This record gives sequence, structure tokens and C-alpha cells, in this order.
Amino acid sequence: MNINDELNKIEFDIKHITETYTGDLTGGYIIGDGPVPCEILFIGEAPGKTEVEQGKPFVGMAGKTFEKYLNFIGLSRNNVRITNTCFFRPIKSKENLNGRKSISNRTPKVSEINLFKHIAQRKIELVNPKIIITLGNVPLKQWTSCTNIGECHGKLIFNNNINIYIFPMYHPSSLTYNRSEDFLKSYEEDWLKLKESLASI
Ligand code: URA
Repeated sequence: MNINDELNKIEFDIKHITETYTGDLTGGYIIGDGPVPCEILFIGEAPGKTEVEQGKPFVGMAGKTFEKYLNFIGLSRNNVRITNTCFFRPIKSKENLNGRKSISNRTPKVSEINLFKHIAQRKIELVNPKIIITLGNVPLKQWTSCTNIGECHGKLIFNNNINIYIFPMYHPSSLTYNRSEDFLKSYEEDWLKLKESLASI
């Protein structure tokens, strides 16, 4: 099978998993964006509303931050592959005091992430990256033995099972929640460390 056939099969599998999943609420799915194969692979958590609407990862608010820093270290979306750990949008519905329902994102459950584990593995084989940058805790737990992003962000780790470097970073949306100067500085430093790591591997 050539790469396009493989990618079409993956898309078919993601669609099938999403459409037959009955465990909890979901709101659409996306595949990934960027060239295949590609030396640099970013893996996020799960798509949000804007991502599902536009069919691409990291195009909403977090995506704006992500792209700004990608450009800051001299990269653009054209030279990197971007994907997620959970391919459907996990959502929850909440009723407010007026009885109106609102939909919001939720963190994917481990059981939901596991639905896509074989797809994530297959995608990595196809992309064949030199380095995987994990964005946030969800992909961190899948690709490293580290369980807390606070302890391992900005450090180059080698994953012996897949023979690929992993570079853990905070999720770009964390800048929205943590507005302290110290956090911003450490976040920017991580991008500069990533630039150095890319030059050294
Ligand atoms: N956050 C993610 O983790 N992934 C996306 O695609 C968008 C926002």
C-alpha cells in the first residue's frame, strides 16, 4: 500500500471508531495536518470545536499560540506534521440555571485514548519522525514514562520502544490559564530548547 492509501485507511478507521463509539458524548473528528513523512511530529490532546469545523488540528485559540511559537523558532506548519492522541472531540453537555444546554470540551478518558492507540502507532510509522513533541499531559503519558509535564517539559528524552526522541512541552492553552511572567518565560525557553534540540539530533 502506498502512503496515500495508508492515510485513507487510517481516516476510514478514525471515522468508523468515532461513529460507532457510544461510551460518552463526542463532537466530530479530525485526522492530522502536514507532510508525511516528516522529521518533526507534534502530538496534541484532542481536537476542539474550531478544529472539527476546519478539519485541522490546532487552528483555534491554542492553535494561534502554537503557530506563533512555531514561527518564533523559524518553523511553519508546512514543515511539521501535527496530530492528536484522541482523534474525536470529547465533549460534555451542561445545563445552566435557565435550563439552557451548553457544550464544552473535556479531557479524553484513558479508554477513549486506547481506542486510537493502534492508529497513533501506525501514524508514527508512516510519518517516521526524528522527534515527537508532545503538547500537554495526554500525549506525554502515551509516549514517555513521565506522568507530570511540570517535571519533564523542555527535556529531550529517548523512547527506546519506538527509537524516537520525545520532547515534552506544555500544551499551548496552558498560557491562557497561567498568565504569570515566570510561566511565560519558561514556556518561551522550552521553545528555544526545542530549537537547540532540533539542531542537535
Ligand atoms: N488542542 C489539542 O490538543 N489539539 C488540537 O488539535 C487543538 C487543541
